[in-house]
Amino acid sequence: MFLKAGISGIDMNKRNKNKIPEAFGVVTGCVFLIALFCFIPIPFGHIFFEGKTDVNFPHHEFVELIAALLSICCMILLGFADDVLDLRWRHKLLLPTIASLPLLIVYYVNFNSTTIILPKIVHNIISKSIDIGFLYYIYMGMLAVFCTNAINILAGINGLEVGQSIIISSCVIIFNMIQIINDSVAEKHQLSLYIMLPYLATTLALWKFNKYPSQVFVGDTFNYLSGMTFAVVGILGHFSKTILLFFIPQILNFLYSVPQLFHFIPCPRHRLPKFDPETGLLNYSKTTFKENELNSLGRLIFVILKTLKLIKWEKNEDDGIIICNNLTIINFFILFTGPIHEEKLNNYILVFQIICSCFAFLIRYPLAQYFYSD
Ligand code: UD1
Ligand code: MG
Repeated sequence: MFLKAGISGIDMNKRNKNKIPEAFGVVTGCVFLIALFCFIPIPFGHIFFEGKTDVNFPHHEFVELIAALLSICCMILLGFADDVLDLRWRHKLLLPTIASLPLLIVYYVNFNSTTIILPKIVHNIISKSIDIGFLYYIYMGMLAVFCTNAINILAGINGLEVGQSIIISSCVIIFNMIQIINDSVAEKHQLSLYIMLPYLATTLALWKFNKYPSQVFVGDTFNYLSGMTFAVVGILGHFSKTILLFFIPQILNFLYSVPQLFHFIPCPRHRLPKFDPETGLLNYSKTTFKENELNSLGRLIFVILKTLKLIKWEKNEDDGIIICNNLTIINFFILFTGPIHEEKLNNYILVFQIICSCFAFLIRYPLAQYFYSD
């Protein structure tokens, strides 16, 4: 059906150039939503069966779940529109902001808590906490933009988008369970589990078809849906900082990508590694430019990257054209490993994600106690 509708892409890292169905995240996304819709009566239905009155009904929790569903649903729609219409980058930034509005409104009505706890070292200088007011809402809107796009730009090899999402969601589930056992505001973490468990289940099904060699591509639909789901549970569960801890590889990839994302250094349409049909291996992909074509900030960034040896580059002496690797951590990995098989590269990056997640738990539990009081 997808091929017939023309919603397909070509796997650039394979010898055969067959069309592969794209935007398959819309299928698992819909199953995820159906599961959640059917689940709504389960945490709330018992109140009616026990004969309690409307007064006892937890309207606050109910509206949070419905708003979470609305934001996720909206993001699937916008993501699918992006896959079909191939939107511009500025729209990609706008879509998650709009989709997060229902959530932010519910947050405003239910909590409107815009206070952040400060680390112990600044308690004497400033205070224990600080109310940042409207800025907190901007931060939450930006969290949704970051989560969706951070997954989308760490992509391009079979199974990577889905693999990283499986690891992040597993970490969130483990974190929620630890918090429930420790009995810290259990309802918030329960709500997160209601959303995360069906998300993980449907994503595992997607993995079966998207892992190397991909039979389907997940499309931006899946990346948007995933990012929004993580942002939703982080915002409603009041653990957005912890969510960001599980995004360490994505944050590194974003920071490394900044010069290309903001066009200080030219950014081609695709930055995924380059396939060599002779060896069947992937090598890092490149961008080309003349140093005098860069603006002053671009030249400064290029010098810093060169000095810190964060890029591999060469200069063509005849025409002065500089050839440099595209700034993604996928290409950065290949700088160390040399030409590598796609599946192996994906496994390495996912192992890196797992190592970063262990580090995140270390920061969240033993180390956080030194910086924040309970
Ligand atoms: C983002 C990246 C882009 C990367 C692309 C790959 C930025 C700014 N953008 O763009 O550099 O090339 O994702 O998804 O970093 N594809 C494969 N193999 C895969 C997955 C995708 O060949 O395992 C190709 C297919 O042709 C597919 C296309 O990538 O059709 C999907 O690209 P799309 O999601 O539209 O790219 P962006 O998200 O805009
Ligand atoms: Mg994409």
